[in-house]
Amino acid sequence: MKRQVHLNLFIHSRGHHEAAWRHPSASPFLLTDFRYYKDLALKAENAFFDSIFLSDILALGSDIEHTPRAVLDPIPLMGSLAAITSKIGIIGTASTTYVEPYNLARQFASLDHLSNGRVAWNIVTTSSAEAATNYSDNPQAGIEERYGRADEFMTVVNSLWDSWAEDAVLDDRLNGQYTLPGRIQPINHHGNFYDVNGPLTVPRGPQGRPVHVQAGSSEPGRAFAAKHGEAIFTAVLEKSAAQDFYRDIKSRVISQGRSPDQCVIMPGLSPVIASTEAQAHQYVRELDELGNIDTGLKRLSVAFGGIDLSHIDLDRILVPDDFPDPETLQGGVSRPKLIVDLIRNEQPTLRQLLSKLSGARGHYTFAGTAEQVADLMEDWINDKAADGFNLMPPVLPEMFDIFIAEVIPLLQQRGIFRTHYEGVTLRDHYGLMYPDSQFK
Ligand SMILES: Cc1cc2nc3c(=O)[nH]c(=O)nc-3n(C[C@H](O)[C@H](O)[C@H](O)COP(=O)(O)O)c2cc1C
Repeated sequence: MKRQVHLNLFIHSRGHHEAAWRHPSASPFLLTDFRYYKDLALKAENAFFDSIFLSDILALGSDIEHTPRAVLDPIPLMGSLAAITSKIGIIGTASTTYVEPYNLARQFASLDHLSNGRVAWNIVTTSSAEAATNYSDNPQAGIEERYGRADEFMTVVNSLWDSWAEDAVLDDRLNGQYTLPGRIQPINHHGNFYDVNGPLTVPRGPQGRPVHVQAGSSEPGRAFAAKHGEAIFTAVLEKSAAQDFYRDIKSRVISQGRSPDQCVIMPGLSPVIASTEAQAHQYVRELDELGNIDTGLKRLSVAFGGIDLSHIDLDRILVPDDFPDPETLQGGVSRPKLIVDLIRNEQPTLRQLLSKLSGARGHYTFAGTAEQVADLMEDWINDKAADGFNLMPPVLPEMFDIFIAEVIPLLQQRGIFRTHYEGVTLRDHYGLMYPDSQFK
């Protein structure tokens, strides 16, 4: 059997191009309107996607005047989407820095029951410095501390999810026995950051534990991904970077004593698809013209810890020294690193860099025909650059509709994408094992 493509739909704004929300073909719904999410989730399910993904931010950001940031809290949105779908996986983001592990374990165990085993948790440590100011975390904890806390957080939540045996609930109404004795145990965790006795209030979910998704690519981020990640998202700007990432993560996963196929790697892909390459490039030009330079500048500044860019002429060629060394940043490290690498390799002007980043915030963008997109995906899968893709349509729903109508049938004809759901849970879709509880 040919290597199969896994597909996730990343729902973001009205599309992943910075200006998508203004595009005439973008959704007419407000981003707070459930119909927007329902429509996309059902389309993804009818096209047999593995999953949909909901991101989260914990601070508004300074670009709200020109950028929609009306992001609903993913937890209730996941519950609502679980109720109107029946097959597709639903990934929601939550922070190990600003949530208590007991709360998170309860929420995701509950969602796993409500969805019949279709949820995943995107584990983030929250790199945003503004978020720290909303959670009494002042000054913001550094990257090493955030990942250290996240590691202990994982020990706690995994133990809580394992604190009920699969068969703990007897529900024997005749004899008045609700649970079996000894099949629910405390966890008695006492660590550097957390003291949690347990057990959880919620019985073990259908997947045992929700699927663990991760998307940090810095050194501590990769170490964490190799230990805990079962599906990994990443941003790359070229195929060779995707191959390097793939090789690195798979070998780290093996070093952790895990099987490499138990960690599905999905780089972002943001394709503009049209009948001809020329039409696709024209669509990109129209989108770029709707963009806002000041917003792009603000975002770039924030990515590098709030640096001043006002002295750089928009048409001057950039050099790496225009920016601080990414390794010295306490927020996200991997995205700034990717930007500095791009400057070193391609020597763009500031204007060209902003245009490149406006496409999908540093993820891989592509403009061409459906055939070319299918070729690209097949090539990346065969050349070990990816196990699947985090599809980031530049305009929603238009570019997603075209992807479903034109690219999905090509992938199916080539025998590299499913024509129906074979399994029931998200673990089934991704080919992931079910974790054993402590009682096995
Ligand atoms: C596809 C993708 C989605 C992400 N979604 C979120 C998110 O919803 N919330 C968040 O705080 N960070 C999100 N991130 C950021 C990462 O989880 C991580 O915090 C960031 O890359 C900085 O960590 P690093 O320096 O280890 O890479 C996302 C990253 C990627 C690649």
